[in-house]
Amino acid sequence: MATYQIAVIPGDGIGQEVIPEGLKALRELQEIVPSLQIDYETFPWGSDYYRAHGAMMPDDGLKILEPFDAIYFGAVGDPPRLPDHITLNGLILPIRKGFQQYACIRPAKLLPGAPCPLVGKGPDDIDFIVVRENTEGEYADAGGWVHRGGYPQELAVQTAVFTRVGCERIIRFAFELARKRNKKKKVTSITKSNAQKYGMVFWDAIFDEVKTDYPDIETDSNLVDAAAMNFIRRPEAFDVLVASNLFADILTDLGAVIMGGMGFAPSGNLNPERTYPSMFESVHGSAPDINGQGISNPLATIWAGQMMLDFLGETEAASRLLTALETHVQDGRISTPDLGGSNSTGEVGDNICTLLRQQAS
Ligand code: NAI
Ligand code: MG
Repeated sequence: MATYQIAVIPGDGIGQEVIPEGLKALRELQEIVPSLQIDYETFPWGSDYYRAHGAMMPDDGLKILEPFDAIYFGAVGDPPRLPDHITLNGLILPIRKGFQQYACIRPAKLLPGAPCPLVGKGPDDIDFIVVRENTEGEYADAGGWVHRGGYPQELAVQTAVFTRVGCERIIRFAFELARKRNKKKKVTSITKSNAQKYGMVFWDAIFDEVKTDYPDIETDSNLVDAAAMNFIRRPEAFDVLVASNLFADILTDLGAVIMGGMGFAPSGNLNPERTYPSMFESVHGSAPDINGQGISNPLATIWAGQMMLDFLGETEAASRLLTALETHVQDGRISTPDLGGSNSTGEVGDNICTLLRQQAS
């Protein structure tokens, strides 16, 4: 019986509120599924750590995390006290890139009972997954800012980087996922090759190459602006989408809202080869506007914990937790203010644990 070693980074803002609820659910599952053994180590990295040490995590942070089986992450960001380019570039982006977590999977799945803002759309219509390229593209950290300081010739260049290896592996991952999901068996490529004639035309060419290896999978291509429209207009057309770092970042906030809100949307940053630990978190950020009130919705983070179990191969525990989430949402009596309720973050986590126990008895 293996004991998983999980690194926990609650991070900033509501990350500190939602991670304890995710851990509550995982610990409850360990009571119910005796073969599930997990050890946790929590790291106090984030903006407070930055104020104390001048860095978001230690210099050898990645070395410290590398032996772990997975990372369970809250959120990062402390605006307006610290600029986002310091906080995100100091913690979450180096982990994603350093551990080659190139496949970021973000399901947009409307659970029965969750509030869908789209008229006439239900759980059968909204059940797709966005595969986000997570290491390069527009977030490659390439560019420059010269003649800084208000000179007329001051200029900034931010370069998007698309490599053959990077595009091919993420597109292939999306096709494999569509096969495994066994739903519509469709992959939609998100592009902007009408206006970006190098990077995005290259992306399209690689998509066309890779798709020939998957004759059983239907394919489609959407310009990113049209995709935004189609998230609203006909979400039922999607099964698996594959998109560059920026495009998928933007589209998955939209995906979160149509599945019931930021409080629902989970995310897995996967290193599919399992050379390095993968990282599981919500799509949402540190939500400074509601931080400290105990009203943040922990469902996204609890769901991310469910994805972590699934990735680790703990299918029984994962399916128990998904059932508890579904039952909780369907019932709807206990919910945080973002869903119109008046319950606290902790009460939602407690209810998930109660449902896990009821299910098991
Ligand atoms: P955000 O996702 O933190 O919040 C957007 C809106 O959704 C806010 O009104 C917030 O109250 C609400 N919201 C988010 N999560 C919620 C939850 N669990 N329950 C109830 N309501 C929730 O995005 P925002 O405000 O743009 O960014 C805040 C900070 O988070 C920034 O520093 C940003 O850079 C950072 N960020 C970090 C991410 C990460 O750690 N992966 C992802 C997105 C943003
Ligand atoms: Mg985002």
